[in-house]
Amino acid sequence: MNPPENHGPVVHDWAVTPLPGTDFDPLPHRLLREEPVARVRLRHGEGHAWLVTRYEDVKRIASDPRMSRALTVGRPITSMTPHNLAPAGGVGRADPPDHTRLRKLIAPTFGRRRMRALREHTRLRAEDLAARTLDAGPPADLTTTFIGPLSATVVAELLGVPAADLDRVDRWREGILSSDTTAAEGESVKKEIAGYFADLARHRADHPGDDLISELAAARADGGISTPELVSTAVMLTLNGLDAVRNIVATMLYVLLVHPDQTRKLRAEPDRLPGAVDELLRYIPQRNGVGMPRVATADVEVGGVTIREGEAVYVFYPAANRDPSVYTEPDRLDLTRREAPHLAFGHGAHYCAGAQLARMEAEVMLSTLLHRFPGLATAVQPERIEWRRGTVNRGPVSLPVTW
Ligand code: HEM
Repeated sequence: MNPPENHGPVVHDWAVTPLPGTDFDPLPHRLLREEPVARVRLRHGEGHAWLVTRYEDVKRIASDPRMSRALTVGRPITSMTPHNLAPAGGVGRADPPDHTRLRKLIAPTFGRRRMRALREHTRLRAEDLAARTLDAGPPADLTTTFIGPLSATVVAELLGVPAADLDRVDRWREGILSSDTTAAEGESVKKEIAGYFADLARHRADHPGDDLISELAAARADGGISTPELVSTAVMLTLNGLDAVRNIVATMLYVLLVHPDQTRKLRAEPDRLPGAVDELLRYIPQRNGVGMPRVATADVEVGGVTIREGEAVYVFYPAANRDPSVYTEPDRLDLTRREAPHLAFGHGAHYCAGAQLARMEAEVMLSTLLHRFPGLATAVQPERIEWRRGTVNRGPVSLPVTW
């Protein structure tokens, strides 16, 4: 803890050290109970920002139209990465009316109807990958034989990224979502991936397919979206589709394997899987530190604190998901829990665009694995599983299993 800066509450240095498994970051865990609207300083950027951790406060800030994303562009706000994760112009960094227009353009691709149609296709893919993993025999690293390839092909097909380009895109993903790169490295990788999507959109404008990039290229021709908006939205969707899903599904599986009693019951009652996925989403702290900040366009009261116009604010969804005033025994996994909806996909206008996709993929992958591998267990002691370091999304480096 540091001495007060200027005036007002102390500024907490949030080190965000890499944590194994589902260990919860001790600072936000404590702030949630002791100082639910606190000032923090992260490793990169300048100054400090507010960190909001309580469920109701997080919802209030995330749905407050006075909280701007567009105003974060070009400001050196204290952050997890040396460069801004989401490129300017994309859906994550826009305010209404631009944000509303962009969300409308991508909504049909990620809506419930489309996801229902995609589910069967994903299930067949999952069956095929499971059969190959079974044929190769134990042990297997499920992140490379099953979870990684499945999440990559699903998002690539939805967007229209050729399978042959996936390795390249995946290398860019690593560069961008690392908190250990320099600002210059991060910017240069972002430039490469932006160039790639700009070329792809040009190509799809002339040779359209049944995919989102083709739809966005057509919308651009009609003036519905600009090139920078198209590129940064495509980048954000691709990175999330590849990284968030891979890591969270691998972590979900790990959690199931280290809670054998609850998992046994779930196998016996597979209809409970959607509810179990929600509890896993609530329970798993899926990211290191915080994501994208917001900037107040007016003085805003929250949790007894006044956030001044122009100040930066982070909401921390994983802490809200562990709020003891909302969940009984919040730090305990309970796959039968039926309490308030979790906030793992965010809240308000910026609610995760890929939530239906992520949920569908998680359900298909977990049900396939639980069904096809009745004796599934970690192939090493769970404590020996290695967890990613220096990355935005948390998850196992590999998930060695046997059966
Ligand atoms: C389980 C996996 C995932 C989790 C936990 C997750 C979580 C989140 C969260 C917390 C936000 C931010 C909400 C905010 O800004 O307040 C978000 C935004 C977003 N997510 Fe996801 N996400 C996941 C998967 C995906 C997938 C698969 C895609 C698309 C392929 C996706 C696309 C996006 C986009 C485009 C946004 C920005 C939305 C906006 O600013 O309007 N996400 N996600």
